[in-house]
Amino acid sequence: MRLRTNPRRLAALSDYEGKELLSGEIEKYKGKWRHLLGDKPLALEIGCGKGAFITGMAALHPEINFLGIESQKEVCYYAVKKIREQKLTNVKIIFGNAVNLCDWFDTAEVAKLYLNFSDPWPKARHAKRRLTYRTFLSQYKRVLVPQGHLRFKTDNDGLFAFSLEEFQEFGLKFIAQTTDLHHSAYENEVQTEYEKRFSGLGKNINFCEVVF
Ligand SMILES: C[S@@+](CC[C@H](N)C(=O)[O-])C[C@H]1O[C@@H](n2cnc3c(N)ncnc32)[C@H](O)[C@@H]1O
Repeated sequence: MRLRTNPRRLAALSDYEGKELLSGEIEKYKGKWRHLLGDKPLALEIGCGKGAFITGMAALHPEINFLGIESQKEVCYYAVKKIREQKLTNVKIIFGNAVNLCDWFDTAEVAKLYLNFSDPWPKARHAKRRLTYRTFLSQYKRVLVPQGHLRFKTDNDGLFAFSLEEFQEFGLKFIAQTTDLHHSAYENEVQTEYEKRFSGLGKNINFCEVVF
C-alpha cells in the first residue's frame, strides 16, 4: 500500500497528534501504556494500514485497549480518522516501524498480537524484513505476556508457508491453522481492508493462531 504524497493529508494529521496518533519518541511510553491508555489488556496490530481491523475490534471490545502500528505516515491518516469519526476511546495509532518493538514495550506488556496481510517481501534476500521472521518472533516473545497469542492472516500462500516454518522452528504451539479461513469454523470477528479486497476476488485467506 503506497500512497502518493498529499500535503493536505499530511497537514491534517497534525490535528490528531498526541490524541489518536502517537509519533516520535514512542520509547517514552515503554512500561507506561496502562497509565496512558487505562488499566485494560493491550492488543497490538503491526502494519494496521487504514485501520478497518483495529477500529472494528476496538468497537467490539471496549474491555481491551488496542494499538495499531503503521510505518507509512499518510496511511495512518485513514486509521486515525476512523477512530475520531467512531468516537473510539480504546484505540490509538503509532506512526513508526515495529522493527524495534522492545524499545517501545516492556516485557509482558502486551496481551495479544495481530499480523494481518503483512508485506510478503518475496525476495529471499529480504526475508529478514518479514514480520514473521525469527528476529521479530523473539521480540514478540519478550513483549507478550507468558502464553500470549499471535493471530496471523494472509492472502499470500508463500508468506504463509514461510511463517508456519518460522513458527514451528521457534517452538510455538499451534491452536488454529487453515488455508481457508472464510470457509472454516474459526472465529473471524473483523475483516481488514486487504482481506475484503482479496476474498472479494475469490482468494483463499490463510490463518493461524499460535501461542508463545
Ligand atoms: C499489505 S498492508 C496491510 C494493511 C492491513 N493490515 C490490511 O490487512 O488491510 C501492510 C501494511 O503494513 C505496514 N508495515 C509493513 N511493515 C511494517 C513495520 N515493520 N512496522 C509498521 N508497519 C509496517 C505497511 O506500511 C502497510 O501499510
